[in-house]
Amino acid sequence: MNIDGQNYRTIWLADDGWAVEVIDQTKLPHIFETCRLETLECAAAAIRDMQVRGAPLIGVTAAYGMALAMRSDASDGNIQHAYDFLRATRPTAVNLRWALTEMVELLAPLAPNDRVEAAYGRVAQICDEDAAMCRAIGKHGAVLIEAVAGKRDAGVPVNILTHCNAGWLATVDWGTALAPIYVAHERGVNLHVWVDETRPRNQGASLTAWELASHGVAHTLIVDNLGGHLMQRGMVDLCFTGSDRVTAEGDVCNKVGTYLKALAAHDCGVPFHVALPYNTIDWSIRDGVCDIPIEQRDASEVLNISGLGEDGVQRTVKIAPANSSAVNYAFDVTPARLVSGLITERGRCAASRQGLMGLYPEQT
Ligand code: MRU
Repeated sequence: MNIDGQNYRTIWLADDGWAVEVIDQTKLPHIFETCRLETLECAAAAIRDMQVRGAPLIGVTAAYGMALAMRSDASDGNIQHAYDFLRATRPTAVNLRWALTEMVELLAPLAPNDRVEAAYGRVAQICDEDAAMCRAIGKHGAVLIEAVAGKRDAGVPVNILTHCNAGWLATVDWGTALAPIYVAHERGVNLHVWVDETRPRNQGASLTAWELASHGVAHTLIVDNLGGHLMQRGMVDLCFTGSDRVTAEGDVCNKVGTYLKALAAHDCGVPFHVALPYNTIDWSIRDGVCDIPIEQRDASEVLNISGLGEDGVQRTVKIAPANSSAVNYAFDVTPARLVSGLITERGRCAASRQGLMGLYPEQT
């Protein structure tokens, strides 16, 4: 996607051909800075500290982490060590496990001398595949926006609500939930996005709003609790979110607060769609509420808030009494019954086993 006229992906190889560069998402929206990952430890830290985040990008960064690990030690022992080390970084997004398993299955049978080249080659493919899948998700999802637009006067925008950041910053390119919005925008559809700020880390305010602004898409930032009110007043036509893990039955795990938006959407009759690539589906899990591990993050993310001061300095300030405690579950699960449909690279389907099997018959 474009930043000031220059085309970017979220992750790429440095000019030396081996180090990995990423956009440091902890600095956005105020500072655009990239960082260079040279070791397995750097890649793991970038995921853990959320310089990169979003299910697909976490997976790709972990795959590059495996490639970096092979550069320093291509032994069998180091394949296992790198897998375990990267796997422990963030528990909820299943794309991490998917990408690491891909890498281990590729590397383990090879002779150590062949592992570095093979690892870099496979990650390059995963990156291209991710970008292509997200573009396809965009095309399949744009149809939903166009259908609403088709019933509207040209001057009235289609209003779409989204939660967290599921745009190109969360993937290699295009995004999941935002891909249909970019495709529809590209096709000239008059649309407007309600952007949930997404406490506690504010990925909506700092990342989604920044992406949409950079791309010239009309949007308005809202506090997380406003969505229900907007839906009751008919001010939301569609909800689009991404996902960190979808079960074989179609339950959707996503950034905390997604469930409440789905409940409000259900109550107000607003279609609630979830966009994801195939490697976000966890075929081994049926019941999302019971079986998906939900990441618990540091309470400081709830007790404090970070931003840019009037003086242009980025700082973190306390927003709660010093002796208050906080709990910080990062994700929640929206049961399939509240999801109007899934949008994948292969097309759209119902959020159900039958729906998913229709698109992925090879999983039987
Ligand atoms: O904690 P994060 O920022 O990694 O959470 C990201 C999300 O929940 C996204 O909505 C999700 O990964 C969607 S897929 C692009």
